Amino acid sequence: MRTLASICFALCAALAAWGADLPLMFTEPYLMSLQPAVSMDVAWLTSEPTAESFVEFGPGADDSNRVKAVTREIEGLLTVDAKGNYTVPLRVFQQIARLEGLEPGAQYSYRVTSVSASGFRKSMGGFWFRTAPADGTPVRFVLLSDLQLMKQIPQTVRMAGQQGPDFILFNGDMVNDPRKAGEWFTVPGTREEDDKRFFNVLQQIEGGARLLQYAPIYPTPGNHEIDQQDLLRNRAECSREKLSMRIYMQLFPTLYPEQESGAGGKHWYSADYGGLHIVSLSLNRWFSWAATLKPGWFLFDDIQAGSAQYNWLEGDLRAVDKQRAIWVTQHWHMFNRATDIDVPYTDPAASPADPDRMTYDKSADYLMRDLKPLYERGGVNGVSFGHSHVYERYLINGVNYIEAASIGNTYRGAKDPPCSTNLDVCPVADETRFRSFLTVRVDPVRGISGEATQSSFESDKVGFLGRVFDRF
Ligand SMILES: [Fe+2]
Ligand SMILES: [Fe+2]
Repeated sequence: MRTLASICFALCAALAAWGADLPLMFTEPYLMSLQPAVSMDVAWLTSEPTAESFVEFGPGADDSNRVKAVTREIEGLLTVDAKGNYTVPLRVFQQIARLEGLEPGAQYSYRVTSVSASGFRKSMGGFWFRTAPADGTPVRFVLLSDLQLMKQIPQTVRMAGQQGPDFILFNGDMVNDPRKAGEWFTVPGTREEDDKRFFNVLQQIEGGARLLQYAPIYPTPGNHEIDQQDLLRNRAECSREKLSMRIYMQLFPTLYPEQESGAGGKHWYSADYGGLHIVSLSLNRWFSWAATLKPGWFLFDDIQAGSAQYNWLEGDLRAVDKQRAIWVTQHWHMFNRATDIDVPYTDPAASPADPDRMTYDKSADYLMRDLKPLYERGGVNGVSFGHSHVYERYLINGVNYIEAASIGNTYRGAKDPPCSTNLDVCPVADETRFRSFLTVRVDPVRGISGEATQSSFESDKVGFLGRVFDRF
């Protein structure tokens, strides 16, 4: 947990020096890269375009190289009005510098600086990262998802950071409503609890935690990355064409250089990290009305055989060097046992008996019919998802399917069946009594192994903090 004193010190110093009610820097730096062996993007968010922003970096402790940051405005963020409602546009700027020509498997230190239009200068330093190693060297990552301002997330994420991961895989649902700036970072006047805002949680350093400032993040978009969540509650007005993931994609532009945030855009990517090939897909849906009511539960992005996303994935898996292990992250679950699985992951159709009702063809579930066989053919080792806020692991035809979304609350119901009955599969591990995170090690000789670690106590006091309760 960020101490009150350090928040107050940073904020008060900025306010005193700058004379405004917003800090110059909303976040500490965060890392992203599609070529992590040789290139790293350093980004941070500021409250003005800045007169100048740059990164100083170098190998080891040398930070004598300077790269100027490019400034982009993040459009669509809101802050609160006098009544505390999110109605007021907030100008937020992303500073982003690309460090290129790096050596694989090497450590670099860096510091970031922004200078405001009025001449106030703010630097943050003492950061470092390691580039991805050459193939053949083991790598380790942590799996997180579904933060959404929940109670246990500061502790869970801090414990995950204390593992010192090489990178962070995030299975979607970063915040509840991406338009609310206060869900992402500290904005004076907003009501979210400071230690639960996305960047504050993921930039903790206590106890040696190494998170976004030290390890690149590879996220996948969840349903809560959709901007227009009011439309997801308005059955008469909602359509696929009106939805976008604009704020999410602006925050992570390195991974989505096309910035096609609307329906039909490219919302997927892949990257090699050492001996691991990482694939991030865009699979989510979420509506507040019954699936049988028009227009039904349509999909934001298609994944059926022949769709743009499926064709891209097929080509991507075909091109992977067969020495590499493959891990896929997607937000929507494959075999969940709760009620959403009763609605197949497919496009709705008007019922022949009643044109006002929608039906779903179970034999045309795109995840089961198209995606699962592609994973098996394509040599995928692990698939992780989020959304249900449970810990579940399935092992089917050599592929591990894991929901490690035990970060926030849990949506597992007491009456959920022990197995996914309509899909005829049962989890090999299942735990929803406390929160956890997963650490995965990819070793070119020994293969992939994973450990799920308990990171909270609930009322029934099962286990203890730091306990490994599942291994594969
Ligand atoms: Fe979620
Ligand atoms: Fe979700």
